Amino acid sequence: QTYPQLPDSCLVVLIGASGAGKSTLASTWPVSQVLSLDALRGAVSDDCGLQEATSDAVDVLHLLLECRMARRKFTVVDATNVTKSAREPLVAAAKRHNMPVIAVMVATPASVCVERQDPRPANRTVPADTVRAQHKAMVHSHPTLLAEGFNEVLFADSLYRLEPYLEQISN
Ligand code: GTP
Ligand code: MG
Repeated sequence: QTYPQLPDSCLVVLIGASGAGKSTLASTWPVSQVLSLDALRGAVSDDCGLQEATSDAVDVLHLLLECRMARRKFTVVDATNVTKSAREPLVAAAKRHNMPVIAVMVATPASVCVERQDPRPANRTVPADTVRAQHKAMVHSHPTLLAEGFNEVLFADSLYRLEPYLEQISN
């Protein structure tokens, strides 16, 4: 396991606005362990930014999650997960298989998340208003996560600092 704070066998639910750095953190795990909603939108539609493909991609994500939880496989869900309705089926899948479920908040400031949309390709930019709403929802989620069934709530920057890793992959 890359991070000593996380059990070998658990579900990690990343929570954060677009641009917060969820996929950057997720890229520190083997690709097979990461269920990326963007990648699954791409898998069903050839366009990872196609919002119309979201509900199909969510269905596929839930199916893959069920298969992995049944095998007790360490799994990371890379999606914004800022609403209770998005998180509920993830927590339920872990509970069905007695797997610990850990929330990892990627709590990058809203202004930084908005700035990070600029250099993205057009089909991957999220409007500033949407990013700010996601950020607000993420902040409001924090106090209810334990009551939703998460066994633990961590902040991404307590796992490790991304800077040395980013330096390493840019070399
Ligand atoms: P969505 O997929 O839109 O929900 O966003 P995301 O949360 O997956 O963000 P992503 O990981 O794509 O990061 C957005 C941008 O921020 C990328 O250009 C990253 O290189 C950069 N970034 C992410 N984390 C860090 C960090 O810790 N430090 C710095 N300097 N840049 C980061
Ligand atoms: Mg991402």
